[in-house]
Amino acid sequence: RLPRPFTVPLPIPPAARPVEPGRYELTQRAARVEIIPGTTTEVWGFDGAFPGPTLELRRGSRTTVRVRNELPVPTSTHLHGGVTPADSDGYPTDLVVAEGRTFRPSGGMHGHHDPSVWTFHSGAKDYVYPVEQRAATLWYHDHRMDFTAPQVWRGLAGFAIVRDDEDDALPLPKGERDIPLFICDRAFEEDGSFRYPSLDPTLLVRPGVEDAYMEGVQGDVILVNGAPWPVLEVGTARYRLRLLNGSNARRYRLELTGGARFVQVGSDQGLLAAPVEHSSLTIVPGERFDVVVDFSGYPPGTEITMVNALGESPNTRAVMRFRVTSRVRDDSRVPPRLAELPPADRAAAVTVRTFDFRRTRHDSGDMWTINGEPYEPGRPIAEPRLGTAEVWRFTSDFHHPVHLHLAHFQVLGRGTRGPEATDAGLKDTVDVRPYEIVDVLVRFDGYRGRYMFHCHNLEHEDMAMMADFRIV
Ligand code: C2O
Ligand code: CU
Repeated sequence: RLPRPFTVPLPIPPAARPVEPGRYELTQRAARVEIIPGTTTEVWGFDGAFPGPTLELRRGSRTTVRVRNELPVPTSTHLHGGVTPADSDGYPTDLVVAEGRTFRPSGGMHGHHDPSVWTFHSGAKDYVYPVEQRAATLWYHDHRMDFTAPQVWRGLAGFAIVRDDEDDALPLPKGERDIPLFICDRAFEEDGSFRYPSLDPTLLVRPGVEDAYMEGVQGDVILVNGAPWPVLEVGTARYRLRLLNGSNARRYRLELTGGARFVQVGSDQGLLAAPVEHSSLTIVPGERFDVVVDFSGYPPGTEITMVNALGESPNTRAVMRFRVTSRVRDDSRVPPRLAELPPADRAAAVTVRTFDFRRTRHDSGDMWTINGEPYEPGRPIAEPRLGTAEVWRFTSDFHHPVHLHLAHFQVLGRGTRGPEATDAGLKDTVDVRPYEIVDVLVRFDGYRGRYMFHCHNLEHEDMAMMADFRIV
């Protein structure tokens, strides 16, 4: 009962409407939505939508988002890529519980959970975003301790796009030709509900997934902006596509048919110094690429398909399609210089720290760890100083997309090689591949306080592949 690929029109998530300038309210609630035509799926979404409404953030405009929780489970909302004060960062044990409900944390995944690490907000919490950061494609999603993966899978995620004068001033495609694409995979039951192998489907007591999913949960349906293998009608023009891999565990290698190329103009944290052309783009969970695709050379009637060269089946090789339908005028272009970026200078680092991402055997079974230790909330494993830069070296036994909260970085190299073409720019998430050594130059700017870094394979994250760091 799945639709034929490339028949469902691509939806664009609507922008969140402020309740007053600088103030938004989003309600996390259950809703039934039509993802597979002819059937409905219960999602847990911000305002009942999946993806949630897009937060349009303006650099320099402090923004408050009141997140109201009407779900049966606690939540914590993280702005991924945000330079956010620690108390609004969506710490996993800083929870919002629906009004009138009580929540008693259980032993959790590994019997940790010192009672003092938990804080609870009844009904809603105000997250304050100063938005003192450059234009970039960010996203927000749930970050609840031990249960992030199933809660994001059910729909608790959406775009947040920071805009600024520097980015606006460039002649890149704008308006209807500036399109965010939230790419993720899901699996469905016969009745249309999401299929996820939770040990406890209530998501209240026992965290974790069945053993077979130790490496992460993947689905066999690719959704873009919540629609299965959608199609977008385009004119003979350039389009700016803001690609986000919002999947729990799936990596994609995106390619375009018909000889079309991706001209990358931005990374996780906004504009590159200069555009970089790619015929294929590997994107890992949490990562973003801002690309321009030029459809002007294709006569109306042409179809260009975005495929995933890593897909293991026809269903997971198909992503979406662009159908050129009209001849249009296009004044946009991609200038050869885009922005000033700080030099990625290893000598700027005051220290080097190594973090090993690896599966380890513990009394309670195998788990995913950093430097051999499962996550302990409230126990920082690094204390960088505000305003300094450090080299962080990531080593790994598997594919681990490593994400830092707050701090942005540049990739210095992979083993003895320099960075790859797709490593360009300022980033907050980096693809660390099996047995690779990835060095990044991290700048700890913004705020002091407690932050975290972790594997963004959400099942690995829930299986303890996280750590705190404290900026002092
Ligand atoms: Cu997108 Cu800590 O996560
Ligand atoms: Cu991982």
